[in-house]
Amino acid sequence: MLGALKTAEKLNIIIVGTGYVGLTTGMALGYLGHRVTCVDKDQSIVDKLERGISTIYEPGLDELLRDNSETVNFTGVLLKDLPEADIVIIAVGTPSKSNGDTDLSFVEAVAKEIGGAMDPDNPPVIVNKSTVPIGTARRVETVIREELDKRGVSCSFSVASNPEFLREGAALHDTLYPDRIVVGTEDVQALNLLRQMYAPILEQTFTPPQSVPRPEGYGLPAFVSTSPTSAELIKYTANAFLAMKISFINEFASIADKVGADIVEVAKGIGLDKRIGPWFLNAGPGWGGSCFPKDVRSILFTGSQYNCDMDLVQAALEVNRKQRKKVIEKLQQSLKVIRGSTVGVLGLSFKPNTDDIRESPSIDIIRELLDMGARVKAYDPVAQERYRQTYPEQNVVYCGSAAEAARESDAVLILTDWDEFRHLPWDELCETMKSKIMVDGRNMLDSDELIKYGFTYSGIGR
Ligand SMILES: NC(=O)c1ccc[n+]([C@@H]2O[C@H](COP(=O)([O-])OP(=O)(O)OC[C@H]3O[C@@H](n4cnc5c(N)ncnc54)[C@H](O)[C@@H]3O)[C@@H](O)[C@H]2O)c1
Repeated sequence: MLGALKTAEKLNIIIVGTGYVGLTTGMALGYLGHRVTCVDKDQSIVDKLERGISTIYEPGLDELLRDNSETVNFTGVLLKDLPEADIVIIAVGTPSKSNGDTDLSFVEAVAKEIGGAMDPDNPPVIVNKSTVPIGTARRVETVIREELDKRGVSCSFSVASNPEFLREGAALHDTLYPDRIVVGTEDVQALNLLRQMYAPILEQTFTPPQSVPRPEGYGLPAFVSTSPTSAELIKYTANAFLAMKISFINEFASIADKVGADIVEVAKGIGLDKRIGPWFLNAGPGWGGSCFPKDVRSILFTGSQYNCDMDLVQAALEVNRKQRKKVIEKLQQSLKVIRGSTVGVLGLSFKPNTDDIRESPSIDIIRELLDMGARVKAYDPVAQERYRQTYPEQNVVYCGSAAEAARESDAVLILTDWDEFRHLPWDELCETMKSKIMVDGRNMLDSDELIKYGFTYSGIGR
């Protein structure tokens, strides 16, 4: 059942960039009843989506792709639907440059296209959903205006900042049931239009898709209206804080190791304090993914441009760099000699329920193991093919199951907390291993149970 928008409430929305953010946003807005065009310059993505085949792994996406065929269409050409659009959402990538600055070339290329084809009599509201440095709303406005000037036309239009906070692996859930929606604009009309776009979410008037049920006890999300600059800074502040929280517990995992405490117990003990909260307190191999590393580097770069020391954020990055080594150290403690050993690695994606491997801890750790002379057998439920294609130089033996990765291995190393690893028959698997060594890089298993099966078990900070 699609969303319950009346005809007058439906908006024509173009989303440029059909990756994790753009596709999810497009599917959610289409489900709510808006008319959505998803644009991607990568024609292979468009072709697949047109055939109803999802290009990313995200729970619930396949169902929405099927159900939204009347409200969402896909194209490789932005210009075609531009004159009809009420809103154009920019959701292209904003990768790091080598100096930590953000590469805005994709965003600026889209702005140029918009300026080159926008109808000056009926300009859409432009929305920056990509994570972009402070001042980018103004920069996008300038680029569009330059293109309009070239055409000899002028008009008044708005660029709003609408940062995205979804988590991969729960992207549709987070889009339909967010904690808050942040919109940064000085233009009341643009603000109202975005409020209209999000109205079914803000008021929760839609029937939830079967695959993405409304969480029990969910209230209504907050609508936070700010200046564009504050909205841009909110996104970096949020990601830097979350990255710092993980680095913080990882730092304490090291001292827990030394003194013989269990960081899982410690995290529980502090997380029950409402001022702290239990989230992002899982010690592990350090943060990765497509956002935290690049966003932390980007805000550090911005800080340096404004002569503003960001010592805490800098330290979070440093702790994270060291954390990758901790996993190898744990393995060395049990295995003693890495060269010549076979290590079964479970998990390649940077977190569970996604096929995204960007800056995944597995990349660094596998590279280090191979450099040290280990043979690596790897298994991931969904990210395996992407990993194999992205890192052809890594001489990894890919396995069809966790059991196959464990078989004949000297040690098993868990790097992603996929739920299926929790439910494996570890008592049987350990019998197939050369030696029963387990390094649980995500502290996800019951250590007592594994020790009972004969494993030499170690986690991170326990
Ligand atoms: N992935 C996340 O969890 C997440 C969460 C919050 C915010 N963000 C931010 O959202 C933005 C997008 O992230 P993503 O993970 O979806 O990126 P992505 O790399 O998965 O997708 C970006 C897409 O944009 C397309 N593209 C690039 N230039 C284009 C152009 N000129 N015209 C049309 N399409 C173009 C690419 O082909 C690609 O498919 C980034 O700024 C990111 O920091 C991401």
